[in-house]
Amino acid sequence: TMPDLIQQSLCIFGTGDLGRSLGHRLFQSGYRVVYGSRRPDSCGPVPQGAQVLNHAEAAQSSRIIFLCINREHYSFLQALAPQLNGKVLVDVSNNPEKDMFPEANAVYLQRLLPEAYVVKALNTLSAWGLQNGPSDANRQTFICGDSAEAKQAVSEVCTRLGLLVLDRGGVGASRELEDFPLQLFPMWKLPMRIAVGLSGAFFFYLLIRDVIYTYVYEGKDVSFRILVSLANKVFPIVSLIMLALCYLPGVMAALLQLHRGTKYRRFPDWLDRWMLCRKQMGLVALALASLHVLYTLIIPIRYYVRYRIGALKNQTTEFFNILAWRTDSYYSMGVLGFALFILLGITSLPSVSNALSWREFSFIQSKLGYVTLFLCTLHGYLYGWDKFLHLYSYKWYTLPGYMLSLVVPTVVLGLKLLLLLPCVDRRLTRIRRGWEHTPQD
Ligand code: HEM
Repeated sequence: TMPDLIQQSLCIFGTGDLGRSLGHRLFQSGYRVVYGSRRPDSCGPVPQGAQVLNHAEAAQSSRIIFLCINREHYSFLQALAPQLNGKVLVDVSNNPEKDMFPEANAVYLQRLLPEAYVVKALNTLSAWGLQNGPSDANRQTFICGDSAEAKQAVSEVCTRLGLLVLDRGGVGASRELEDFPLQLFPMWKLPMRIAVGLSGAFFFYLLIRDVIYTYVYEGKDVSFRILVSLANKVFPIVSLIMLALCYLPGVMAALLQLHRGTKYRRFPDWLDRWMLCRKQMGLVALALASLHVLYTLIIPIRYYVRYRIGALKNQTTEFFNILAWRTDSYYSMGVLGFALFILLGITSLPSVSNALSWREFSFIQSKLGYVTLFLCTLHGYLYGWDKFLHLYSYKWYTLPGYMLSLVVPTVVLGLKLLLLLPCVDRRLTRIRRGWEHTPQD
């Protein structure tokens, strides 16, 4: 009545790190483990209870064979074809670089042994990950292979190891699977590139306006401003633009749906990719806004600022009510915007967002997100106040940085307002419920 009690044997070729960790996990999950080795008598330590035989003998012990050997050694398997025909061969291999070989490892293996059932699996798990047992972050494993029955058998083993198996189709998909472990923070690439690109561009732009201009016209060296004043412009400017870039693809997608009159056509690839990295984009923007806040906090202790205050002490200066209102209002918009920004960042973390319902998540990320963008944009406008009226703002006919930073946010907020107009909103809601515009309508 308890067939599980009869231990199923599994075979592993290779007694390296990966082979040993895998054997250890399989043993812990209740399997009998038999190793195949070139030198069964001197292969080093294997997990307790495991048996080590030569390859041909080991292959007889199990229908499923895990290959924990390098691709370069696959060719010796051809000599074992009589023993391996009809077996399920699990290819767990990876390569150190992309496109090192013309064909994926699993495809190559299937070509060497056409009579065996090759299944690609477990390649996204490291020896370390296997030994420690799957954690939340690496619970998934992708598999692919041409035989559904062989995949089923491997899936059962993976499930028993506590893994969540995701089927990716035939053995042809193994190139994609083998590329997964080589990716380095794939979702962060685009946001990081945008952050670095914009920061570099604004740095040189502001260097010319704030440092070189002063040197040319007043003969004064104010290069010390690079470290704090300039940084405290570049970071908030890029942050505000990137916050707006989180919301731009959403309004573009809505406009596209309105224009097409249906939600059933795919968005262009670039828009899809952009939408998928909004979370990372927002977190980079939050990091830059935090830098802006920290830089702002140290302003009163700067030597340059204390020096100027000291110089002012002996003068009697008038108090301007308007000026007090102006500075207080842009500070408070900044503080409120930053507080909501932090809320957005926290709720985008998986452990927090998983605890929210979809309605709660979209309320925070969408509604409060637009409020955040609005407050930060208002902070920029109030900071500018009437600067746009003065000629000195346009050194060498260039616009001040804060004005440039307001362009994208203003466009996004304007388009969002347009989408909120009742007639537009009604049509969009209908489209999103599945209604389609046909010429007869
Ligand atoms: C400028 C304070 C949050 C975007 C400024 C300035 C101050 C300031 C004092 C003027 C800097 C200068 O004179 O060079 C604050 C405070 C904040 C806050 C106290 C919150 C605690 C934010 C946030 C954003 C932002 C969340 C948007 C992401 C900007 C921008 C400028 C600016 C774009 C104009 C930069 C320039 O070109 O000079 N902020 N800020 N700030 N802030 Fe904030």
